[in-house]
Amino acid sequence: MIEKEIEAILKKALDKLKYHLDKLEVVVSNRKDLCDYQFDGCFALAKILHKSPLEIGENIIEALKEEKESLDYFQEVQLLAPGFINFTLTNAIINEKLNNMAKDEKFNIEMPEQETIVIDYGGPNIAKPLHVGHLRSAIVGESIKRMLKYMGHHVIADVHLGDYGLQIGEVIFGMKEKNISLEEVTLEDLETIYPEISSRCKEDEELKEKCATITKELQEENKEYQKYYQKIKELSSNDILRIYNYLDVHFDLWEGESNAYPYIPKLTKKLEEKQLLTESNGARVVYVNEEQDTKELPPLLYQKQNGAYLYGTTDLATILERVENYHPDRIIYIADSRQSMHFETFFRAWKKLDSQNPKLEFLSFGTVNGTDGKPFKTRAGNSPKLDSLFKEVKTAFLNSNTKNEEMKENDLDIIVNAIIKFADLQNNREKDYIFDIAKFSSVVGKTGPYILYTYLRIASILKKEKFYLENLNKEIYDNTDRELRLKMIELENTLKYAVDTRLPSVLANYLYDLCVNMNAFYEKNHINTLENKEKKENWLFLLTLSNRMIKSMLELLEINLPERM
Ligand code: ARG
Repeated sequence: MIEKEIEAILKKALDKLKYHLDKLEVVVSNRKDLCDYQFDGCFALAKILHKSPLEIGENIIEALKEEKESLDYFQEVQLLAPGFINFTLTNAIINEKLNNMAKDEKFNIEMPEQETIVIDYGGPNIAKPLHVGHLRSAIVGESIKRMLKYMGHHVIADVHLGDYGLQIGEVIFGMKEKNISLEEVTLEDLETIYPEISSRCKEDEELKEKCATITKELQEENKEYQKYYQKIKELSSNDILRIYNYLDVHFDLWEGESNAYPYIPKLTKKLEEKQLLTESNGARVVYVNEEQDTKELPPLLYQKQNGAYLYGTTDLATILERVENYHPDRIIYIADSRQSMHFETFFRAWKKLDSQNPKLEFLSFGTVNGTDGKPFKTRAGNSPKLDSLFKEVKTAFLNSNTKNEEMKENDLDIIVNAIIKFADLQNNREKDYIFDIAKFSSVVGKTGPYILYTYLRIASILKKEKFYLENLNKEIYDNTDRELRLKMIELENTLKYAVDTRLPSVLANYLYDLCVNMNAFYEKNHINTLENKEKKENWLFLLTLSNRMIKSMLELLEINLPERM
């Protein structure tokens, strides 16, 4: 990686001067007009050594001149007041990086040590309509899964359905009350029963108790309720699966809270052995406070007075299940930030059982808001049914450009996906964002269609041309060309950072910048009509590589390529 290599050269110079920094860091320049990479460590050194940053910088520059590698690597090293060191790379180094990237399927990116990782995302609740929050979990989770796989990890994706909670008791109650038989019941029935009973339960304690009892008896394997449950789960799962297929989101395991139940007796025994279960008003809880806490964290509710188990219980038991079946080094959960306390609580409870393994990570995401700043709703009404969202996006895209009417349906679906996913993934997942359909459907601006358009435009040039170059030659021909090449060699560091921070937004923003560089380059240099054969071949090589990069990065953002748009 470029940064690491520059740091190594710099380190030699610092060693010679007996300068020491705990964290020696070189970064991409934020003044591309001045240099390619920069080192800001003179300020920290100045404090340690009680000298001026400028003096330190001068010494470093002198020492660098004596490093032979420095000559190969840098066309120029400059000191900028009050103490920045600016590096400009040689063409040879830039092109060597690009040649190496072109020769490798994964762009010569260094792979980390492999881990086995279970990733838990999506998390829809059966019998309840899917909402935009679940969409976000699916989109962000799928991208993180793909990035981890790309880096060589063994990744197991689990949808972790909410399939054994109170909503099931409510729907069973509703079906019985309305005399809807198991043979006749439809998805539409479920979609009307749940909201009705759930809002009645909010006002009627007795009814709520009834539904809770049904849920508890279901969990205890009551035969009749099990039959209802299977039917509800089948109808609901099929619909969820249909939506995930539309989104190209795929899971290795289609498990849920219910799968954790067989592990509860064993879990209870383990907790009892460690004396972690405490009686509290007839219920059982696990206290999770730690000495250094400044605020009291409520205990994990393990078992209710009526004997039923809860969300925290199933999450704990699921860890046990995953440990036994998959021996993961790490489990990653992706859920709404409003659940952070729940995750903190059961992570702590697990740590009390097994302090080391597996590592547990909670990745939160914010809310999707509409242009009014409130949680997103489709025009179809209150519950943002995902189908109507897809339709609305399709219409917005078609309206934005009359040519779009001749498009194939399959290509349109791909574009709908690109619009929704690029809108989401370009935002730091932890933050709320505004989903503005008109803005994100446009082919100009930071949008999915813009990226697809860039790819297709370059692909159509490449289709008409052939080149036989194996390596770029020494030259870099103009500014837009150089900027593009520099952006391309940032890939490795960017991807590594995106994976380490679990932030697909880092990758999405990089991809956008890459496309901006490609378009600027292409607009300035009309390759098709170019006479100079050598130059043309070099540029075709470059565009072939950059389009390959777009394609691979789009895959990590779960965006497919349409044939035409
Ligand atoms: N079903 C939950 C919900 O809709 C999300 C599940 C998150 N995953 C987990 N292991 N708790 O809020």
